[in-house]
Amino acid sequence: MVAELSTKLVAQVEQAAKLLRSAKQVCILSGAGISAESGIPTFRDKQTGLWENFSAEDLASPTAFARDPKLVWSWYQWRRELVQDKAPNPAHRALAKWQQGLALKNLASKQRLTLITQNVDDLHEQAGSEAIHLHGHLWRNRCSQCDSVFVESSANNEETKNAVEKIKRFSDELIACPQCGGYIRPDIVWFGESLPVEAWQQAEEAAANCEVFISIGTSSLVYPAAGLAQLAKQNGAKIIEINPNPTPSTVVDITLAAKAGAVMPLLVSTLEQSKS
Ligand code: OAD
Repeated sequence: MVAELSTKLVAQVEQAAKLLRSAKQVCILSGAGISAESGIPTFRDKQTGLWENFSAEDLASPTAFARDPKLVWSWYQWRRELVQDKAPNPAHRALAKWQQGLALKNLASKQRLTLITQNVDDLHEQAGSEAIHLHGHLWRNRCSQCDSVFVESSANNEETKNAVEKIKRFSDELIACPQCGGYIRPDIVWFGESLPVEAWQQAEEAAANCEVFISIGTSSLVYPAAGLAQLAKQNGAKIIEINPNPTPSTVVDITLAAKAGAVMPLLVSTLEQSKS
């Protein structure tokens, strides 16, 4: 992997590692780009991006669900099928290694690392990380009417068991809420909806108090998540961006312009070496 990176980029990774070495609080925001190398399409990449091929307004908003619940539900079931066999890539794994303190045994006690993600997949968790999910979870469901969580494991009657089976088979059949009869929807933050309060508070707190903020694989176009880097910068943090493509972010101090799957393992191993 390192062989794929230019000398300039390797030097920039060293520079980033230098900043990180002395940081007591590090905040990381990941976006769809970190899961791209696992085979999950991003939203805005040309040709392959989900929003290049589908309209966000038709598929990811409360209005869209009210207008055509089956269309929206079937799109998310399709996405679940697409994501179900995907595994963490070297970027997820390197992050998890760092976060677990395995790579940085000595530094772990002195450094707090908060991982925030806009992704609804669970690849960070599969890799062994703890992440704050700002945009919800692809695999969870709740009622669009009474908001009650649809807990698959507690299905205790035939009707609910059948519903769970349909979800697992990626059927596009709509599911009725066992509490109120409303339609079950994915537990994902749609356009026009607020972010989960606790997750957002934790994210703001981590961004405002970090010394280094790393943005990985996000286009930095969707707010409020995109504002976290600005919040960090206003409070004196250095900003590192990992993205093979340019973004509109104006607060970046170090741009590591390559794929996360190549940069993250090198960054973490550089940190590891500096501690041994
Ligand atoms: P985007 O699709 O907007 O941006 C993905 C970014 O990842 C782009 O800037 C790519 O250049 C970059 N990228 C692609 N491959 C990469 C790689 N291997 N390594 C690193 N970066 C790579 O995705 P997000 O910024 O996550 O919201 O989008 C934000 C939100 O918009 C999503 O959470 C989603 C969407 O609408 C909801 O669905 C609520």
